[in-house]
Amino acid sequence: MIYSKVIGIGSFVPEKVLTNDELCGMVDTSDEWITSRTGIKERRIAGAGLTTSDIAAYAAKKAIKLSGLNNNDIDLVIAGTITPDMIFPSTSCIVQEKLGLKNAAAFDVSAGCSGFIYGLSIADSFIKSGKYKNVLVIGADLLSRITDYNDRATCVLFGDGGGAVVLTANSENSRGILSTHMHSEGGHDSILMLRAGGSLMPATHKTVDSGEHYIKMKGSELFKYAVNFLKDVAEEAIRFNALKPEDIDLFVPHQANIRIIEATAKKLHFPMEKVFVNVEKYGNTSSGSIPIALNEAYESGRLKEGNIVLIDAIGAGLTWASAIIRW
Ligand code: ACO
Repeated sequence: MIYSKVIGIGSFVPEKVLTNDELCGMVDTSDEWITSRTGIKERRIAGAGLTTSDIAAYAAKKAIKLSGLNNNDIDLVIAGTITPDMIFPSTSCIVQEKLGLKNAAAFDVSAGCSGFIYGLSIADSFIKSGKYKNVLVIGADLLSRITDYNDRATCVLFGDGGGAVVLTANSENSRGILSTHMHSEGGHDSILMLRAGGSLMPATHKTVDSGEHYIKMKGSELFKYAVNFLKDVAEEAIRFNALKPEDIDLFVPHQANIRIIEATAKKLHFPMEKVFVNVEKYGNTSSGSIPIALNEAYESGRLKEGNIVLIDAIGAGLTWASAIIRW
């Protein structure tokens, strides 16, 4: 049996900070409303020249360096993103070129905020099948480019950033990915989508004028799906591995909203000490959220070798997914 082991991790967020107080000067909102409803205090915003592939490449470079591999050792690049540099070519191909990963195949995964875990699951399957040995999995998004800064219901939530891991084939299961689970349920476009710019509604002056190139979201409807699906997919993973909730050393959920995180943790009977939270610093960075959080947990020493970590996310689609990793 072949297992996938994480041998490198890295993340990157742009320098520029956008605080709740600054947002108060842009839309009718308050620090009190944003903090109490979401837990977010600030988020990072990319400067004009920075693209998703830049964020992805900075994070990936750190992950590859930590892995000890050479660029030529990477066989496959998978990038979870809903904000690619352009519709095509894929952002993963652009990253491949930026980092000189000459021997790698590359493709993107569109699964909203579940993009990183979807990518991890695909990478794990390729490694287990023996097809690839060293896979770079990226989650990166630049949501400020698709956020309407006149819409107070969405603009307070989102930020920019990304992270990456390097997985390698390992013949022992002493460390590595123990399981992944992916789900989707179409038909929820009305609660979370970006409608224009595709084949349904190509970009026109009209689509731009009517703001159809921005995220549209029904937050309170999404909230209910989020808590239930995040709970279900975490329980599924725990059950699959014949573990008990208390066996999980660290829970790293998608960082969308502190109330969703707390409600999910409560349903799973996880004390908040076992839950990693950094939503206050970055808001929701979509596919970037989990690898940024994992990297911060690792760098701060909260995630140690041998720990059992559970990650889960929900995103547009709807999609939702989880993974359990022995770090
Ligand atoms: N400041 C002040 N008031 C606001 C703001 C704001 N920024 N935004 C909305 N409001 C108002 C609304 O207009 C509404 O006013 P009304 O009662 O007069 O109509 C009131 O606050 C309540 O609005 P709700 O939407 O019901 O507020 P709720 O408590 O549900 O919180 C929130 C909104 C934070 C968006 C919450 O629903 C949420 O987090 N949902 C999940 C969102 C999410 O996670 N999205 C990402 C998923 S994944 C992906 O793929 C991107």
